[in-house]
Amino acid sequence: MKRVITYGTFDLLHYGHINLLRRAKALGDYLIVALSTDEFNRVEKNKTCYFSYEQRKSLLEAIRYVDLVIPEENWEQKRTDVKEYHINTFVIGDDWKGKFDFLKEEGVDVVYLTRTPEISSSQIKSDLGGNS
Ligand code: CTP
Repeated sequence: MKRVITYGTFDLLHYGHINLLRRAKALGDYLIVALSTDEFNRVEKNKTCYFSYEQRKSLLEAIRYVDLVIPEENWEQKRTDVKEYHINTFVIGDDWKGKFDFLKEEGVDVVYLTRTPEISSSQIKSDLGGNS
């Protein structure tokens, strides 16, 4: 079984996220989403989420492409996650292109997928007049 992992915040789930998750799952048989916790978002990514971690997790678990959701709590855990979960492929959108190539040292394929144009959680927030 080929195991795939991706990381992200996935606030205000939108079709760009679904496109990413569909293509990520197609790279293997089992897709894990490491979902940024509220604290990691606030402290490390400077993002305030509209939906809480538990709400974002429930939404992701309802998606047919997603097999397991785990917390993303720091930048360093990727190296240990890929070992612990026996990951074959790490995948993320190309806004992160080149940033996680070091995972190849762990024997993992690293794939950057083209982002879906125009849509983003922060765009939705600003279009609706809130803060991002
Ligand atoms: N993503 C994508 N296409 C989009 C938006 C996001 O492929 N239009 C991908 C990202 O590249 C990432 C994953 O979805 O791999 C989760 O991204 P996230 O940062 O949570 O979503 P954004 O909508 O980009 O959120 P923000 O605006 O807060 O950065």
